Amino acid sequence: MSEAFEIEPDLVAALRSCRHLAVLTGAGISAESGIPTFREALTGVWSEYDPEELATPEGFARNPDRVWGWYRSRRTRIAEAEPNPGHRALAELERRVPSMTLVTQNIDGLHLRAGHRDVIELHGNIGRVRCSVEGTVVERFEDGDRAPGCPTCGAPLRPDVIWFGELLPRAALERAWAAALSADLFLSIGTSNIVEPAASLPWAAAQSGARVVVINTTSEGQRRGPGIRHLVGPAGEVLPALVRAAWPRGSTPEAPGWRQA
Ligand code: APR
Repeated sequence: MSEAFEIEPDLVAALRSCRHLAVLTGAGISAESGIPTFREALTGVWSEYDPEELATPEGFARNPDRVWGWYRSRRTRIAEAEPNPGHRALAELERRVPSMTLVTQNIDGLHLRAGHRDVIELHGNIGRVRCSVEGTVVERFEDGDRAPGCPTCGAPLRPDVIWFGELLPRAALERAWAAALSADLFLSIGTSNIVEPAASLPWAAAQSGARVVVINTTSEGQRRGPGIRHLVGPAGEVLPALVRAAWPRGSTPEAPGWRQA
């Protein structure tokens, strides 16, 4: 596929010299791993399924087995998926820049599987299960079509993800805000930037003086403004190209002097 995006020299310079890079990812970064996004017109998860029934505490209370079964099939699909070049390029960036904070809205754990060390998972992780009443994470349970009971209190177990109408984990959110406010460069990747509070992070970063780069297959519906640049293309192509432009092959993190002073 031809590259519709252009990585300009000033962006390369900004990446090479940045002190603190903050990154927000959404479903788009995992699209090339075969995991559907949520809001794309024909292929998005929410064009086929009702979020009220499957991604709210009320929907779970009405029918825990239906919600459990749906997440179970998503968990299986995610377990079969592999990180793509976009995830791997971000993991490489973590090794290259002096400080990087990666905040993701994704629950698929693919950043960690790509070798990223520190990931703030704002919406939880589909691989974990917790008690719907006590909140305790449960390691052992009998998986099946029906929501298993908590070994301590018997309440139905649920995926350890954040549903619509629920509060985000406080410590994770505080770290994400602090990163946005202190970043000199902020990448917003593969998100429709609709769901708060994550949606506000790039704009808060821009207001604090960060250069913001939005990477998405479309710039439609994405915010524009001073200090905000759009690279239109698949994250799995744009991110490796960005890393290659900043650190052409051969200048590896292991090589002496790889990091520009
Ligand atoms: N590369 C980059 N961007 C892409 C790619 C790709 N290969 N494929 C799709 N996109 C873009 C789409 O254009 C869209 O803007 O990714 C975005 C995905 O948006 P959403 O489906 O709305 O996903 P996201 O922003 O992560 O949703 C936020 O909503 O349903 C909840 O909790 C769920 O975490 C999710 C949250």
